[in-house]
Amino acid sequence: MTKYAKRVYVMEEEAKKLDSLTGNLTSNDIISFAAGAPAKEAYPFDALREISQDVFQKSAKGYESVKYGSAVGFPSLREMVCEELLTPRGLHTKAENVMITSGGIQPMNLLCQLLIDPGDVILVETPTFVHTTMIFKMFQAKVVPCVMDDDGMVLEDVEEKIKKYRPKMVYTIPTFQNPTGITMSLERRRRLAELGSKYDVVILEDDPYREIRYSGEHLLPIKAFDTTGHTVFANSFSKIFSPGSRLGYLVASDEMIRRLSDIKLGTDTCTNTIAQAICTEFFKKGYYPDHLKRICDIYRGRRDVMLESIDAYFPERTKHTCPDGGYYVWVELPKSIDATELASRIAKELNICYGIGSAFYSEGAPEGAGRNCMRMNFSGLEQEVIRENVKKLGEFLQEER
Ligand SMILES: Cc1ncc(COP(=O)(O)O)c(C=O)c1O
Repeated sequence: MTKYAKRVYVMEEEAKKLDSLTGNLTSNDIISFAAGAPAKEAYPFDALREISQDVFQKSAKGYESVKYGSAVGFPSLREMVCEELLTPRGLHTKAENVMITSGGIQPMNLLCQLLIDPGDVILVETPTFVHTTMIFKMFQAKVVPCVMDDDGMVLEDVEEKIKKYRPKMVYTIPTFQNPTGITMSLERRRRLAELGSKYDVVILEDDPYREIRYSGEHLLPIKAFDTTGHTVFANSFSKIFSPGSRLGYLVASDEMIRRLSDIKLGTDTCTNTIAQAICTEFFKKGYYPDHLKRICDIYRGRRDVMLESIDAYFPERTKHTCPDGGYYVWVELPKSIDATELASRIAKELNICYGIGSAFYSEGAPEGAGRNCMRMNFSGLEQEVIRENVKKLGEFLQEER
């Protein structure tokens, strides 16, 4: 019998949760409010075709895009990240402090390699993104949930748990959080950066939804308040360019970047250079501002229809968040409705699936947490499909009350 590493068994449970969220309890033609993918209409095909023609020539630029790259990423893409994505949002940093990663999820893995020994504690929001807790568990970290309210992580709870557990990291998704859509207030961002410095804890700020804001004002990242190098900012090109490109980036102190680049070298050598070359050109040629506006317009319309339909068709006393951006609405049904138990029946009878609320809670959360909750994704489906299927779902739930 093959003797697998202990971590494989620890991860099994999280992997099952993740599977259920991407809707694979289901058939191909299922209407999925569970997935977290961009709209089909949000891929910049015309630009990609033109850029590919241009990049893949037997020229210096062409060779650059197909040979091995450096562990920290293309210098031009790192600069572009600073100029086009960070400076406009109030995060002033040097390109040397940016590392290009394989997707937005890799920073979590690299940071664990940097900081986590088995048994170390990581504080997380509750509920939180399952893929990340899966990585934390792969490194045999102890994941401790912290309370959230409408302004994000409750910092009194975070501080108390920092004192009690002496964690290595605090993980937060401050903007249009996955799964709730909640955004951390500016004041809490400032205070969380201060807590990192005061207690010598790394704050891992995972911000992949920040750019897709379609109402309200952009807020400064937590990293903008960091004066001691304790906050690491992680982001992704998945939501603003293409998830298949597997591009992301992180921003960290000089020392951390140096150590992380050794780790990156030992992990996957470098990030895909073909994808980096195409993405760099996409920004350099100035496609991004119009593209961002176009995708925000699509998502704004879909969010509005999702919220209107929940209000119109879901049972009385249903509560939901009203996000100013991102991909998700968090729905809290009346306590008498168990959305976790109903999920497979709904998939079978209505051919609809949704993010099962309880899957976003890790151990340590109150018993039964999230069982009456659903994460509803609106980015991937057209407005009419959202309206029609939220209505069907709502009518089904009314009967279950
Ligand atoms: C909160 C959060 N962090 C990180 C990621 C990972 O992004 P990527 O697909 O670029 O690896 C996602 C993707 O859905 C996410 O929701």
